[in-house]
Amino acid sequence: MKKLIVLASLLLGSFLFFAACNGSETKKETNPDSTAVISENDSASCSNETIMDPNNPKPMALMMREMVKNADRMKSKLEKGEKLDSADFPFLRFYLTEPTDPNVLEPEFFEKARLFQESYKAIFAHQTEQKKYYNLMINRCMKCHESYCSGPLKRIRKLPLN
Ligand code: HEC
Repeated sequence: MKKLIVLASLLLGSFLFFAACNGSETKKETNPDSTAVISENDSASCSNETIMDPNNPKPMALMMREMVKNADRMKSKLEKGEKLDSADFPFLRFYLTEPTDPNVLEPEFFEKARLFQESYKAIFAHQTEQKKYYNLMINRCMKCHESYCSGPLKRIRKLPLN
């Protein structure tokens, strides 16, 4: 398994280096145009909705896919007027998993992850206002993605409830 990973990273090394959340351009929160900048680079995974090589996703990318599915489930339950139970939606500690681009693992990323986790917990702490807190949680998805991984933003923007 380890050998396989080493081999895969050798083969894909240069590709993956630029893949996902492609550093410098996307990170700057001061650059409101980051989406436009990185969409020029079609090989960067985070400039696309999902990573380019679907057979070789990193654990963080896989977990993000779970998070999207969970958010979809939350949304449809709330639309039906159902309550969300924290037991059905355990928090996924994505920030402890390996990302495609290890450069994202910097203090600002972890701070955004922390704020996201807080907003996630808040949904279950406010049983009567879950729609509102669900939308606030989705905002936190966007806040991180504006800085680190703009490709999935299109998908994430479909998640808020009206
Ligand atoms: C603290 C930052 C952060 C937060 C919060 C965050 N993401 Fe992500 N997301 C990332 C990073 C970094 C990646 C790239 C992961 C990789 O390629 O290994 C990613 C990848 C993704 C992907 C692409 C997965 C793929 O198929 O390659 C989707 C979709 C996604 N996130 C949706 C979400 C949703 C929905 C939320 C909120 C429920 C969310 N993200 C919250 C940082 C974040």
